[in-house]
Amino acid sequence: MEPPALSQDQRRNPLDQLPVPPGKLAYGCWRLAGTWNAAAIDDERRKQAETAVMTAIDAGFTVFDHADIYCDGEAEQLFGDTLKKQPSLREKIILASKCGIRFAGKPDPQSPYRYDFSKDHIIRSCEGSLKRLGTDHLDILMLHRPDFLGHPYEVAEAVVYLQSRGMIRLFGASNFSLSQIEMYHRAGVKIAVHQIEISLVAHQAVSDGRLDQCIQHHITPMAWSPLSRGFLGDGLRPDFEHQTSETGSSLLETMDEIAGEIDTNRSGVALAWLLKHPAGIMPVIGSIHPERIRKAMQASRIELSRDHWYRLTEAALGSRLP
Ligand SMILES: NC(=O)c1ccc[n+]([C@@H]2O[C@H](COP(=O)([O-])OP(=O)(O)OC[C@H]3O[C@@H](n4cnc5c(N)ncnc54)[C@H](OP(=O)(O)O)[C@@H]3O)[C@@H](O)[C@H]2O)c1
Repeated sequence: MEPPALSQDQRRNPLDQLPVPPGKLAYGCWRLAGTWNAAAIDDERRKQAETAVMTAIDAGFTVFDHADIYCDGEAEQLFGDTLKKQPSLREKIILASKCGIRFAGKPDPQSPYRYDFSKDHIIRSCEGSLKRLGTDHLDILMLHRPDFLGHPYEVAEAVVYLQSRGMIRLFGASNFSLSQIEMYHRAGVKIAVHQIEISLVAHQAVSDGRLDQCIQHHITPMAWSPLSRGFLGDGLRPDFEHQTSETGSSLLETMDEIAGEIDTNRSGVALAWLLKHPAGIMPVIGSIHPERIRKAMQASRIELSRDHWYRLTEAALGSRLP
C-alpha cells in the first residue's frame, strides 16, 4: 500500500529518527514506585523496581515511559538510580516523560489540582525529569493531559527552547482530542506520539478517529493500560468483579478461545489485538512482574488474522457489528 501523494520524508515515522530502534512495545514506569506516597518506598520496593527495569531491558524493551507526577517524581528517581549503576544503558534506550499535570497543594497549600502548559512550567518540569533520570536529554516529552488554558504558540516556544538546547528530541501529547492534536499541528508543534488509553476494554480510539489521525499525521499511538490495568491479564482477579459480568466474561472467553487457537495466553491476545492495527500502536506495558514482562515481549511476535481481530472486536463491543 503506497500513499502516492507523500514524499519519502513525509512518510517517515518520527520515532525512526531516534538513535535507538523503538521496537513494538514500551515499558511503562508508573507502577515502579507501587504507590503515590514517596515516603512508603522501602528498600524492598527499590530492589523490585530495579529488577523490573533490568528485566525489561534484558527482554528487549527500549522505550521507557515516565511522567513527572508518577509518585511525585520518585518513579523517575528509581529509574535514574538504576541507570546510575550502569550509565552505558542510557544510549541503548529511549526515554519518554510527560508534564503538564500539577498536584494540589504544590507549590502553595491552597494550589488546586490543575493542568499547566505554560512555557515556564514545561521547561521546569523537563529540567526536573532530566535531573531525576540522571540524563541530559529526553527522547520524547509529552503533554500529559490537555490544559484548557494552554495556547499552542506558548507550547511551541517551550518546545523550541528545549529542542534548541538538546534537552528533548521529539515532542508528543497524551489524552488529547482530535481537534487539540490538529490545533497543535497547525501551530507548528510537531506531535510525534499520542499516548491514549486503548485496549479491548477501552477501544473508543479505534472508531472515534484518533487512530486515523495518527496514520494521517505520522503520529505513533502509544496505548496506555493495554491490559486495562490487569483486567485482560491471565486468570481471574478478585478485585475485578466485572470479569464475571456478562460482557466481561464473554470477552475473556473469546480471548481464551483465540489464545488456544494460536498457542498463546490471554494477555498475548490483548497485545496482539493492538499490534494488528495499521496505525502501529505501541502498547505501554505496566507490569512489574518479571515473568509477565518477558511474556509480553514474546507476545509481541504474535500475528492475529483479520478474522481473529474482528471476533475480538465484536466481543469487546458486546454486540454485532452493523
Ligand atoms: N498517559 C496517561 O494518562 C497514562 C495513564 C495511565 C498509564 N500510563 C502509562 O501506561 C503504563 C501502563 O499502564 P498500566 O500499568 O495500567 O498497564 P496494564 O499493563 O494494562 O496494567 C498493568 C497492571 O495489570 C496487572 N497485571 C497484568 N497482568 C496481570 C495478570 N495476569 N494477573 C494479575 N495482574 C496482572 C499488573 O500487575 P503486576 O505488576 O503484578 O504484573 C499491573 O498492576 C503506565 O506505566 C504508564 O507509563 C499513561
